Amino acid sequence: MLILGIESSCDETGVAVVQADAGAAPPRLLGQALHSQVQMHQAYGGVVPELASRDHIRRVLPLTQSVLQQAGCTLEQIDCVAFTRGPGLAGALLVGAGVACGIAAALGKPTLGVHHLEGHLLSPFLSADAPEFPFVALLVSGGHTQLMRVEGVGRYHLLGETIDDAAGEAFDKSAKLLGLGYPGGPALARLAEQGQASAFALPRPLLHSGDLDFSFAGLKTAVLTQARKLGPELQARRADLAAATEAAIVEVLVKKSLAALQQTGLRRLVVAGGVGANRRLRQQLDAAAERLGLRVHYPELHLCTDNGAMIALAAAMRWQAGLLPAGASGEGYNFAV
Ligand code: KG4
Ligand code: ZN
Repeated sequence: MLILGIESSCDETGVAVVQADAGAAPPRLLGQALHSQVQMHQAYGGVVPELASRDHIRRVLPLTQSVLQQAGCTLEQIDCVAFTRGPGLAGALLVGAGVACGIAAALGKPTLGVHHLEGHLLSPFLSADAPEFPFVALLVSGGHTQLMRVEGVGRYHLLGETIDDAAGEAFDKSAKLLGLGYPGGPALARLAEQGQASAFALPRPLLHSGDLDFSFAGLKTAVLTQARKLGPELQARRADLAAATEAAIVEVLVKKSLAALQQTGLRRLVVAGGVGANRRLRQQLDAAAERLGLRVHYPELHLCTDNGAMIALAAAMRWQAGLLPAGASGEGYNFAV
């Protein structure tokens, strides 16, 4: 089974081809290509949806051709075309969906709309150290922060989630307050490496709430208050404030993930989504895992942020799990129910 995957939910156009056998062996990535729109949006300080859609249109077919070449297959050999069905920017999603449905109609092959977060969630299955079910998943992206108990493909149980901002949003908004550009998360993380996290005492929202929910909106306000208090001194203290912000977000993510493992009795954690690339988060989770005898799995770094491989992979794993009816066009979506 050869699956073409297309991701276009936000500011990256991602295309990939994955091969899956009917057995339990993890699908193999045969080729992938990604175009990031970061440079185009940088001038505006954030993603401009209309520009994003137009750029996806420009990029998606040349990327598809290059991926097919890498994979050593022709379009006619593709058995299923998967695309990100949401969540994301409506116009950007429409480009991926339209192209996928067009290709599939021309080939007489099925399509499958994949939930973007399911792609992130399953992305560690493309790494050499793939996890085994069941596990707890920490999904930390620009739009979502969720903890889930994952029993298998399509069997996801929500344990807790953010009641306001997502972790990535907290990184991005704090970065903006510190005068760092878009994309803010990686910029804040880079600056934080030169700062002292203990220089500022920032709140750890809902740390002791007893449940597995998150809240990051108050943290952003605390960063704003601190930045205003510093006034002209902010410039000189930016690295410290960035480090303190990162430390607050990471501490909450680590402690709640450990609480989720304890609550479910599971000993394996999978971290996915853009914030999963954060070095401090990985260091602290690895240290806790070592201390407590737990396993933590991450996607490869280049698969943490949006990409086509995770969409093709999620479709392949759905097919392997018998969740993709042969020849049917897919509405087979039951993420996080
Ligand atoms: O998963 P993703 O690429 O897109 C969404 O589905 O939202 O995640 C993007 C988010 C952004 O908020 C970005 O700032 C954050 O992931 N991010 C990071 C890092 N790399 C990306 N946050 C903290 N540290 C990083 N190294
Ligand atoms: Zn994403």
